[in-house]
Amino acid sequence: MSAQTDIKRITVPQLRARKGEAPIVTLTAYTTPMARLLDPHVDILMVGDSLGRVVYGLDSTLGVTLEMMINHGKAVMRGSRRACVVIDLPFGSYQESPEVAFRNAARVLSETGAQAVKLEGGAEMAPTIAFLTQRGVPVMGHVGLTPQSINTLGGFRTQGRDDATARRVLADAEAVARAGAFSVVVEGTVETLAREITTRIPIPTIGIGASPSCDGQVLVIDDALGLVADFTPKFVKRYAELGPLISEAAASYAAEVKARKFPGPEHCFGAPPPPPRVRPNHER
Ligand code: KIV
Repeated sequence: MSAQTDIKRITVPQLRARKGEAPIVTLTAYTTPMARLLDPHVDILMVGDSLGRVVYGLDSTLGVTLEMMINHGKAVMRGSRRACVVIDLPFGSYQESPEVAFRNAARVLSETGAQAVKLEGGAEMAPTIAFLTQRGVPVMGHVGLTPQSINTLGGFRTQGRDDATARRVLADAEAVARAGAFSVVVEGTVETLAREITTRIPIPTIGIGASPSCDGQVLVIDDALGLVADFTPKFVKRYAELGPLISEAAASYAAEVKARKFPGPEHCFGAPPPPPRVRPNHER
């Protein structure tokens, strides 16, 4: 990345002011090269704890640590200069108390230079969101399907199909907004609920599996690029199929190495190309 002086990022207040305006474009990123590629196209680069699944091959996000989030957050900051970078607080780093949440959120912001943190939860997390925002930590909320609660939710199910759940998720979004979050991810909800939340709360909603009614959208980059071979949820659109391309490239490389076609003379330093290999007697 170029000098710090070239860096002019989209700010949290600018995003907050986008409510009802041009949709907020968000993608996840976990590494410097990917951040470089995505940065010109998005408003927010989200260092999501989805990295547990797509980078580390974990079954859930529960094993993701603060250290992982900080390291990947630094990498994304190094690769970007325009997007607002938001980093997930991982499971166990904020639920215990507002004070613990502040300590960990402060580490994330001071060690990475990112502008905001995201945390999952609704009404029960409102006091923590208020504590953080009043102390200079911008917070993005996350309601609806909250993957860190997989064990209490009992699986990844679309939220809001029944009235009671829809009312709870709406109340969660309202509580998060009242507590001072600058925006909120709405994940895995039926369209009517996403629309109602977006209409009712004064902060931008960023949808994932929550319909186009939201104020913005987010996708996990590995899903959008077709890098994940297993199950693709209905709400994911694969904008490319990079998995098979990578596999083909690896197969070509392996074939060329085995056939001694790579490296070719153009990839060698100084020395003339090696003489053709003389087959030993026992191979003749
Ligand atoms: O972990 C993540 O990447 C997320 C987004 C998909 C919203 O929470």
